[in-house]
Amino acid sequence: MEFSLINRAIQHFDGDATVVFANTDTSFDDQAVQSLIELNHFEAKVGKVLCLSLVDGFKANNVIVVGLGDTPTTDKNYIKALLSASTALEGIKAKSIMIQQLDVDQHDESWTQRTTARVMQNTTYQIQKVGTEKSDESSVESIAIQSDGDNAHELAQGQAIASGMALTRHLGDLPSNICTPTYLAETAQDLAKEFNLDCEVLEESDMSKLGMGSLLSVSKGSIEPPKLISLSYKGNGDAKPIVLVGKGVTFDSGGISLKPGAGMDEMKYDMCGAASVIGTMRAVAEMKLKVNLAIVVPAVENMPAHNASKPGDVVTSMSGQTIEVLNTDAEGRLILCDALTYVERFNPEVVIDTATLTGAVIVALGKHHCGVMANDQDLADDLISAGKTALDTAWQLPLDDEYDELLKSNFADMGNIGGREAGTVTAACFLARYAKDYRWAHLDIAGTAWVSGAKKGATGRPVPLLTQYILDQI
Ligand code: BES
Ligand code: MN
Ligand code: ZN
Repeated sequence: MEFSLINRAIQHFDGDATVVFANTDTSFDDQAVQSLIELNHFEAKVGKVLCLSLVDGFKANNVIVVGLGDTPTTDKNYIKALLSASTALEGIKAKSIMIQQLDVDQHDESWTQRTTARVMQNTTYQIQKVGTEKSDESSVESIAIQSDGDNAHELAQGQAIASGMALTRHLGDLPSNICTPTYLAETAQDLAKEFNLDCEVLEESDMSKLGMGSLLSVSKGSIEPPKLISLSYKGNGDAKPIVLVGKGVTFDSGGISLKPGAGMDEMKYDMCGAASVIGTMRAVAEMKLKVNLAIVVPAVENMPAHNASKPGDVVTSMSGQTIEVLNTDAEGRLILCDALTYVERFNPEVVIDTATLTGAVIVALGKHHCGVMANDQDLADDLISAGKTALDTAWQLPLDDEYDELLKSNFADMGNIGGREAGTVTAACFLARYAKDYRWAHLDIAGTAWVSGAKKGATGRPVPLLTQYILDQI
């Protein structure tokens, strides 16, 4: 799909389709379109579409009128309208299209351009079935967005973010017998080649030498060798890097604390944190941003086996702190804590981890917002604001000492679970014990990284939030 800016009246575009927008409470500028809106009793409710052909005065064969609801047009309504437009365009097999310029409330034109490119490009993602070739079945070949300007920079950024999201979605959707820790490491190495990044992959023996007893206690019950994957991008000299850490459990069976069978297939998505930091790296490298970024992915499989960790086992983390593994299904924090100690060597400006860490975050926030917890309020605020801009939102949960006390153990410095209450917060309190030496935030994406049901698939979140946060730092 190619994007460009076009400085032309909507009537003069001579491709397959022109997408125009209508609000419920104002009439449309073009008289021919307004008459047809009235004739068809089209109400312009958000996401509703009216497909018109051979409209008087329009050179394009089709005019797709998309409803935006009331004025002012909100960003959420604009996205809904774009998604409806995309379905309608596929329906008429349109190849070359133009999208009318539009004011979105609280946002400038650059935002609209970047977001339009991202959303439209993202609709072309298709799940690649095992054994089939990658197919780009979208009919739309070119999208021209109406604008008086000629700087297509924002369009390129939107496309880069979408291509990062596509990589994230693809890795998430792959089954765990293909997307193993080794596969994630190879993906990182391929990305390093493509974008000239530094890549380092630590093997089990390397991690053992570093004392990562907590991470290795999770992987030891699996036949798949664990990997600790790092990628670094340098776009800003010697500045301290932003460091992203992503949970990479390529399958979470629960281990000896085995999960129930129903829906267990979805635990192939337990590496979506990893996939999102890899996707963010791709987007940043493709945009050639003037920042320094490093990503670190602890990648393991969590399986039950004769040599797996057992409830009550005590392990020693790289930081020296000991952990009583009361539940082998609380494995994400066990691999992340060693990764959080490891990242100290990057001398980070900030560290943000993203992880499908707790089912409890779905109880607390559902599937709309991810959870954010931080040891630095400015960082939490920046992430929340980036999420709003990128329409990939986060909601903050507290991190008070009272919650941390729930991690007490009689047999080690801490247990790996805090009991039934506030499971998302106690998981973050556990991580906070390993993130004392830098500004740190944690995104719990268990509710947002994929959708279940008939449309089961990865969403690509929180790549939009993370890339927006990075863009905001420049
Ligand atoms: N990967 C899961 C969290 C999860 C569960 C994500 C369901 C998405 C959907 C994580 O490793 C886990 O099992 N967490 C436990 C923690 C508990 C044992 C304290 C959970 O949430 O039940
Ligand atoms: Mn688990
Ligand atoms: Zn897990």
